[in-house]
Amino acid sequence: MSNESDTAAGTAADPIQARWHFGVPIYEKHLPRSLEKMPSIIQHIYRIKDRDTGITRSNQGGWHSGDRLHTTKHEDTRWLIHRLLQVSTQCIKDFEGDRPIKDVRMVSAWANINYQGNWNAPHEHLPCTWSGVFYIDSGEPTTGDDERSLEGKVLFFDPMPLGREWKRPPNVGYRPVSGTMLLFPSFLTHMVAPYFGDKPRISLAFNLNVVR
Ligand SMILES: [Fe+2]
Repeated sequence: MSNESDTAAGTAADPIQARWHFGVPIYEKHLPRSLEKMPSIIQHIYRIKDRDTGITRSNQGGWHSGDRLHTTKHEDTRWLIHRLLQVSTQCIKDFEGDRPIKDVRMVSAWANINYQGNWNAPHEHLPCTWSGVFYIDSGEPTTGDDERSLEGKVLFFDPMPLGREWKRPPNVGYRPVSGTMLLFPSFLTHMVAPYFGDKPRISLAFNLNVVR
């Protein structure tokens, strides 16, 4: 068993804690133990791609699997789906505080592969409650770690765009990192800026409903 901290409850060094932007919580959580499973999960995703031309949603180019990946029987992918649901549930419980919830259910999940020049148009994931994305392989953006570059970043938009005069920048960008999950309210409009790396970017996205 790995001694890396990858517990659902978080640790002192890596607590479950939202970042708030324009009054909206976004959780970012690294799952170090997922890294050893990646080769097997990537192989499984390419096997699905070989027999499935995929669907078009917000993706502009690239490949988007069907949205039933959460029902897969592939062991390592099931492990990842289970971890994502477990960690997301902890995040949601952190957000809910004293407000009781009965359950959190994953209602859809799908894989994405973005190649050079691919991007995702602005969209939201209503009518679900929470949505997430996990980076299996974030690829290699041509701009490296340059924080000013928007290449391949996920941009979340302020639902009430008041602007900088009111100390509310119109959007916030997150740089995808392999082995890291982002969790956000499904109503939050977001997009992915074009990615230009040579290496395909592989991610797994999902939708959750809270049962009260
Ligand atoms: Fe999305």
